[in-house]
Amino acid sequence: MAFTPSKLVVIQICVVNYFSDPFYATPFRVGETTAASLAATGIAANDIWELRTGRRISYEVESNWKCIVENFNECYHCGPVHPELCEIVPAFREAGGGELDWENGVPHREGATTFTFSGTTERAPFPGLDEEERVRHKGELVYPNLMVSVSPDHVAAFTLWPTEAGHTRIDCDFLFHPDEMAKASFDPSDAVEFWDLVNRQDSRICESVQAGMGSRVFSTGYYAPMEDWSMDIRRYLSDRLGPSAIG
Ligand SMILES: [Fe+2]
Repeated sequence: MAFTPSKLVVIQICVVNYFSDPFYATPFRVGETTAASLAATGIAANDIWELRTGRRISYEVESNWKCIVENFNECYHCGPVHPELCEIVPAFREAGGGELDWENGVPHREGATTFTFSGTTERAPFPGLDEEERVRHKGELVYPNLMVSVSPDHVAAFTLWPTEAGHTRIDCDFLFHPDEMAKASFDPSDAVEFWDLVNRQDSRICESVQAGMGSRVFSTGYYAPMEDWSMDIRRYLSDRLGPSAIG
């Protein structure tokens, strides 16, 4: 996981950026089909481009950005780290999350449909979702630095900005359909407060991993079989920067 400051420049050129309103990918993205990746989450590209940011929270995390995307790509940490999230998606506790079907969406517990403390919300599902999509949760990592988590009524979009080898700023945008935002009763706090807790839990463990890698006795880590997606991050970087650049 060694990462030299000079390589950070390369990554920052490759990042996906968007403005807070509307959700908007800039031409700075290189070689990635962002729209296709987002469409893979199950929301038609036309719908996701219509969403607007209702709230943004920025986090300063003492961790290399690759630790953060690796953490996003596995869920065996979910059981011990996210008890509140597991109340909404009990499947996160099972088999380290290794058997989750992200392509078709992760099921909530009975009666829950979204990522809030109650598992419910007053907001309507996005237009155009089918019956399954209205009750399941999907996620997608858009390489290299955009993580998207899709509930039927809101999207949490995380843009990672590496500032140092051991530090990343995360801009977390909460996206909603403009019809819902136009309502006088619109209140994003049910999703925002839930995610803020989950995000802080994730930041804490990423910082722990970073601290562990800084130990004098650390030499290398190991990928477990359920970490295939994290191995893909390594391949993604290796293809672009060369194997020696990522240790
Ligand atoms: Fe997590």
